[in-house]
Amino acid sequence: MFKFWKNRTLKRSSALKPDHYRLKTEKREGERTLLLVKGEHQRSVVPEAGVTILQHAENNEVEWNSFCKRGTCARCRCEITEGIGLLSEPNEAEQARLDPEEIEEGYRLGCQTTVTESGDITIKHAPYF
Ligand code: FES
Repeated sequence: MFKFWKNRTLKRSSALKPDHYRLKTEKREGERTLLLVKGEHQRSVVPEAGVTILQHAENNEVEWNSFCKRGTCARCRCEITEGIGLLSEPNEAEQARLDPEEIEEGYRLGCQTTVTESGDITIKHAPYF
């Protein structure tokens, strides 16, 4: 009995993982992607207008540090390396928490920044600690 379940589990996991991985990371022609990068890991997701970076991460099971979700702790701080023009302007909370130089260099708060237009966006998680 144990052997049956062991083999069944191995078959299922080896059969599902490659497809699951491909579905989440492959870009289809003409598709716009939001690439979330955290350390060595990255995942492409479909960008949705009006949704924050943090919500994109949470909705797609990407572990993205957060605590307050109101712009004060900066655990969700990130660097926008592509597509900053497709995101909302820094709001009051971001301007209060981040230095003007940081904002100019492309650093934002994931819980405050929303996608405004569809397009290719790359975001790297960059907390202070
Ligand atoms: S979760 Fe605290 S600033 Fe974004």
